[in-house]
Parts: sequence; structure tokens; C-alpha cells
Amino acid sequence: MRILGIETSCDETGISILDFKNNQCKILANLVYSQIKVHQPYGGVVPNLAKREHQKNLIPMLRLALQEARCTKKKKNQFSDSQTKILEKILLKDEVLKQNLLPFLQTTTKPKIDFIAVTKGPGLAPALWPGVNLARALSFYWRIPLLGINHLEGHILSNWLPKEENQWASLKIPQSLFPAAGLIISGGHTQLILIKKIGQYRLVGETRDDAAGECFDKTARLLGLSYPGGPAIAAEAKKIKNLPPPPLPIHLPRPMIDQKNYDFSFAGLKTAVLYLVEDLKKQGISLNLVRPFLAAEIQNSINEVLVSKTIRLAKNFRTQSIIAAGGVAANEALTQLLQQEATKKLHDIQVLIPEKQYTGDNAAMIALAAYFHRQRPTSWQQLEANPNLRL
Ligand code: KG4
Ligand code: ZN
Repeated sequence: MRILGIETSCDETGISILDFKNNQCKILANLVYSQIKVHQPYGGVVPNLAKREHQKNLIPMLRLALQEARCTKKKKNQFSDSQTKILEKILLKDEVLKQNLLPFLQTTTKPKIDFIAVTKGPGLAPALWPGVNLARALSFYWRIPLLGINHLEGHILSNWLPKEENQWASLKIPQSLFPAAGLIISGGHTQLILIKKIGQYRLVGETRDDAAGECFDKTARLLGLSYPGGPAIAAEAKKIKNLPPPPLPIHLPRPMIDQKNYDFSFAGLKTAVLYLVEDLKKQGISLNLVRPFLAAEIQNSINEVLVSKTIRLAKNFRTQSIIAAGGVAANEALTQLLQQEATKKLHDIQVLIPEKQYTGDNAAMIALAAYFHRQRPTSWQQLEANPNLRL
């Protein structure tokens, strides 16, 4: 069975084709086009630019993915008038996508794909729609069942993607991992989830303001580092190993760390960094001199809060594992601390961290999530993007 995955929730365009056999999966094609360069001058994602880029890139990427997975051939097709009308209606608000899609469909045979999976939310509305409408158009024209996928569930399931392309990975997820404590950390979300089994999620806590990734991005900007801030702060923090101590002690708060709930708040941390940077300026201390120490302290503060609350959740709910997911899970200092604390404070608990190449947004995780929901497809008429979709 083959599933085509489409991901456009934010600033990565993703197209993947996964093969499934005997409860195993293999990646046949996995293309991710990052729009970082487009958004970098603005210091964050600009929704309408993201939409434009998705519309421009989806079809060339789809063509390439189908070629890589060897599941289609070139052939001339003719649309009927009614087909053209329906396709035009589906793509009414995606003119650029329509201009790319129609010639593509006219020269491509129906591929050997069993399901089309697309991220329906959460995400930025202008970014989500081109992906959703492409999936709807393909499902209609090729008559392939369609599945709308929750992006956050995709992140959780990224833990089970094969390490390398063309390698089979088992999807026999042992019940002994559950209940699991899920830590979803990305640019838009910071959530603690109690996972009873795949498909059964209970939100137990989340950020009340900024997400962890957003905090990395915003504080990086205050330090004069580029977007995305997470990797930039991590790289800067690494420099302190080879530096003499800072000219003054640098300390930031650990927001909500002692509160017994499972919520987070990172907006205050951003303000604390702003005041600290202004204070340094007033004292005549160059930011260049202290930047690595500031970066390390920001990273420590975010990571300690994330890890402390995750460990508390695992302990109080006696979970059998911790499952991390999302872009911020690429942070090595974080995953080391999580492993370390889990070993120290929780017995024999397994900590799952996705392969680094799958921590960020990708369509392979969306196709994989669809595999678990394949019994309940949606119709192309009914599928809509939902920017605020919950798990
Ligand atoms: O999951 P993701 O790719 O997109 C969303 O769904 O939001 O996450 C992107 C976020 C960005 O905020 C980025 O700064 C952060 O993940 N990130 C990191 C690292 N790599 C990416 N944060 C901390 N350390 C990293 N190494
Ligand atoms: Zn994401």
C-alpha cells in the first residue's frame, strides 16, 4: 500500500510517498523544501509569503516524488468540461497552484497510490490551504481516498519513521510503551499529552503564551541571531566551552517550573532577555562579549522547564515512556537533559526522540499518521483546513 503525504502547515513544503507492507513502512520519496531564506529577512514566518511559496513548489516537488517512487508514467490526458469546472472550483483561491496543477494532470497518469494524506491543521491558514486544496484536487481527479491529518499527531509518529530511505521500519508499536508522556515542542506548540495508545491523546498542559520554539526564535532575534532561532542559539551556546567566564553573572528565570500544573509560559522569558540586553548596553558591555553565555542561559532555562514538567507528568501518571516530538526536539542539550533526568528520576523508562531529520516539518510523518487512520477516509468535498485543530 502506498500513501502520498502533503505538508504545508507553516514554512516547509513537504511531499512524501511511503510504502507499507506487513505492518512495516518504507520511504520511497521524501522531499522537504524549506522557505527559511524567504522568511529570514522578516525574522519569522510571513503567512502570505508561505502560501505563495507552497503554491509555487508543490507541483514540481510532487512530480519529482512520483518519479523517485516510480509510481507514475507520462501520458497525455484530456479533461472533460465538468472535470475542469470542478478543479477550477477547488483551486479558486490558489491561482498559481492551479496554473501548475492543470498541465501536470494533463501529462501524468494516475499513480499507484492508495491514499492521499494532507495536514489539515493546526497551522497558518494561508499556508494550510494550498496543501489541502491540492490534496482535494488530486483525490477528486485520480479518485484516490483522502485523509486529513493532524500535524501534531504526525510529529508524535515521526518517532517511527525509518532511519534511512529504502529501509523497512516496523510499525508494531508495543503496548508496553503506553501510557506515554508526549512532549510536543515546535514553533507553534508546546504541549504535554498523555498518550494512551496511538490515536488516543489527552492534553494535560500547554503554553499559555509563546511556544518553546517561538521563544528560541524571539530571543535569538534579541541577541542579533538569525531565524530560525533554535539552531542559532544552540550553536552560539556551544561556544562557551572555549571561553573564559563572562564579565558578569547571567541569570534568567525558569518560568512556572515550581508550579504543580503542566502548563508553560515563555513570554516572560523573552521580556527578561530584552531587559538583560538593555541593561548590558547601559553598562557599556558589548553584546558580542556575552552572546554565547546569554544563548546558553536561554537554552538552559527553556530546556529545564520543559524537562522538569515532562518528568513530573511521567512520574505522576506512571507512564511507561516519554515521547518527544517537533522541531525543538532537534536540540541536543534538551534531549541529553531529558535522557539524563529520566534515567535519574524514573525507573527504566524509555525515552523516544525522533531522528534529527524528522524533527522538523515533513510529509513523511503525515503519510505515516494516515496509515493509522486509513479505515476512515474523508471525501474531497468535505475536507477543510482547520488552523486551530486540537489533538
Ligand atoms: O516543528 P517545526 O519544524 O515547525 C512547527 O511546526 O512549528 O518547529 C520549528 C521550531 C522553530 O521555532 C525552530 O527555532 C525550532 O523548531 N528548532 C530548534 C532547533 N531546531 C529547530 N529549537 C531548538 N534547538 C534546535 N536545535
Ligand atoms: Zn511542526
